[in-house]
Amino acid sequence: MRVDVAFVPATSSGRFTGRHYALGVTNPGRNSTERGDFSPSWAPPASPDDVERALIAEGYLPGEGLSTAIFLAIELRRPLFLEGEPGVGKTEVANVLARSFGSDLLRLQCYEGIDAHQAIYEWDYQRQLLYLRAHDRRSDSPPIGEDELFSERFLIRRPLLQAIAGSGAVGSAPPVLLIDEIDRADDEFEAFLLEILANFSVTVPEIGTFRAEVVPVVILTSNRTRDVHDALKRRALYHWVEHPDFDREVAIVLSRAPEAGHQLASQVTSAVQALRSMGLYKSPGVAEAIDWARALHALGRNSLDEPSASRTLGAVLKYREDADRARPELAAIVENAISRG
Ligand SMILES: Nc1ncnc2c1ncn2[C@@H]1O[C@H](COP(=O)(O)OP(=O)(O)OP(=O)(O)O)[C@@H](O)[C@H]1O
Ligand SMILES: [Mg+2]
Repeated sequence: MRVDVAFVPATSSGRFTGRHYALGVTNPGRNSTERGDFSPSWAPPASPDDVERALIAEGYLPGEGLSTAIFLAIELRRPLFLEGEPGVGKTEVANVLARSFGSDLLRLQCYEGIDAHQAIYEWDYQRQLLYLRAHDRRSDSPPIGEDELFSERFLIRRPLLQAIAGSGAVGSAPPVLLIDEIDRADDEFEAFLLEILANFSVTVPEIGTFRAEVVPVVILTSNRTRDVHDALKRRALYHWVEHPDFDREVAIVLSRAPEAGHQLASQVTSAVQALRSMGLYKSPGVAEAIDWARALHALGRNSLDEPSASRTLGAVLKYREDADRARPELAAIVENAISRG
């Protein structure tokens, strides 16, 4: 497949809107008329605080610096590259942004061997074949031309093309393009992504060039199983997502599993943070803290105790070796968590 990438001058990504606030009048000097390229119906965030409020309204509690990084990514129209340990909330950033914008989330899950076909577009060969066969049966119909066979009706749009071709008119909310776990893809794919992210335009030789009317907000994530090339990092803004501190993690657990109650949420968080400090093979993330609180609640517990913690350890540790290391420490961890929570 040949994929040409043409240069397109960046357009403004519009103003921030979403279900929770529309900044139509709160942002003088940065309105649509002055910037001249979007309608007042959609407002980008005016400040990192605006971003923070929007994330919190969607149930996401950002750590230090994340709201500023998101604000700048939107404002400067640069991809945001999020790295961090598993389960610290990298992928969720894209989900909550799309929800907050009220726009589409296009997700490209990377894996070893992923190529341009899976990322941009493919021809639907099966449907083309069926169409040809059906046509052949009708002896009176004129022959099918290549134009007809390689037209939009047989084009399967993959996430990158969806993000570029499917963006709304200038002035509408940008779609959110999540390129998840880029560290799993190989170098060639990275180089190819770099070109797409530079131009936001894709040429399908048989059809023509698709250009993004509204530049998508791009979130790249990595668990750092390998280092991503500097060229890609240079194009993006970078933010390392830290594990939350105690108070924030309790608040996250409570926001995702409110049924657990404050006492259980605090004790589980304390125990998870203690397990995290043990240098296990697979340290538990925030997702595991949420799952553990839910599991204990499902068993009717509203506070942590050693036998229940031991029985439900599979909600928080996913390797036998880690569980074997943790079990002898569990009584002390639980005792400490109870005295703290
Ligand atoms: N700051 C946060 N606020 C609210 N929920 C959070 C936060 N951080 C993590 N979570 C929750 O934790 C879970 C895991 O988050 P997510 O899948 O985004 O992690 P991740 O960093 O992408 O992990 P992985 O590297 O394994 O893909 C989600 O259910 C998410 O809602
Ligand atoms: Mg993820």
